[in-house]
Amino acid sequence: MVTPRARSPRAVRWFLGRIYLEPATDVTTKTWPRVARQIMVFSTGERIVHWLHTLAFFVLLGTGVVLLVPQLAPFATGEAGMLTRIIHRLGAVAFALVPFLYVLLDPEGVGLTIRDLFSWSRRDIGWARAAVAYYFSGREEVMPPQRRFNTGQKLFYCLVVLSIPLFGVTGLAMWFGKGWLPVAVLQACVILHDWTTIAVTAMFLVHFALSVMHPLMRGAINGMLSGWVPEEYIRSHHAMWYEEIAGEQQEPAPPAETLSADQSAS
Ligand code: HEM
Repeated sequence: MVTPRARSPRAVRWFLGRIYLEPATDVTTKTWPRVARQIMVFSTGERIVHWLHTLAFFVLLGTGVVLLVPQLAPFATGEAGMLTRIIHRLGAVAFALVPFLYVLLDPEGVGLTIRDLFSWSRRDIGWARAAVAYYFSGREEVMPPQRRFNTGQKLFYCLVVLSIPLFGVTGLAMWFGKGWLPVAVLQACVILHDWTTIAVTAMFLVHFALSVMHPLMRGAINGMLSGWVPEEYIRSHHAMWYEEIAGEQQEPAPPAETLSADQSAS
């Protein structure tokens, strides 16, 4: 008798089926299909900072939600509550240090990213007008050419940048301000801390869906895994930036059938 192979639960298969990596890219063996050219989008320092910040964010979100949601009170009181608060504070220190690590690892990248994030123009209005048709109907022709970050990415990254001092100031007030700060100020800090959590988490969910699951963004996640993104993707999604860097940094076509991600990133 043939034993049927164990299958993942249906919901897990549905979810995995919606995660798009570069079609023939196998991140487990780290081999790439033969592609004409790849463009380095994120440096090693930027990728380290991105994943450390994401990790710290999840630790803070998990422990913060425990403190916020009344139904989770058993984990927010007594010894469990103490542990939750210690982990939240340790996560907060990591979260606050990551931007400094970015400056240390890739000072040039910080400068370029800040320049790109804070350059807004009428083109961003064009993006907003086209966004619904582009993201929901896949009408690529209506989207005006974008630079290294499109308007939606800039909105999310600017919110992340703004959230760091917001979390920091309100969190430090809750941490060290009890007993000497007026109660009204402490309450305002708790409310601001909570609303910042809600806003960043909502935007994070959109960021996750777009960068990992949306069919039009297929391949984008590779930029944060290996640093490299196919030239064709940059040409179609970030045409203005592509024009800027054309000829500057494309990799020549790899000689063999496949090119290891390690080799390509070095
Ligand atoms: C530098 C960054 C941060 C610092 C210094 C900080 C600090 C704190 C402190 C001291 C508390 C009070 C804990 C207690 O009850 O003793 C707190 C609560 C909380 N934190 Fe943070 N935090 C930071 C970042 C974050 C982030 C990134 C998130 C979410 C992703 C977050 C979500 C929360 C939530 C939801 C609460 C519960 C507030 C409530 O009781 O309503 N925190 N934080």
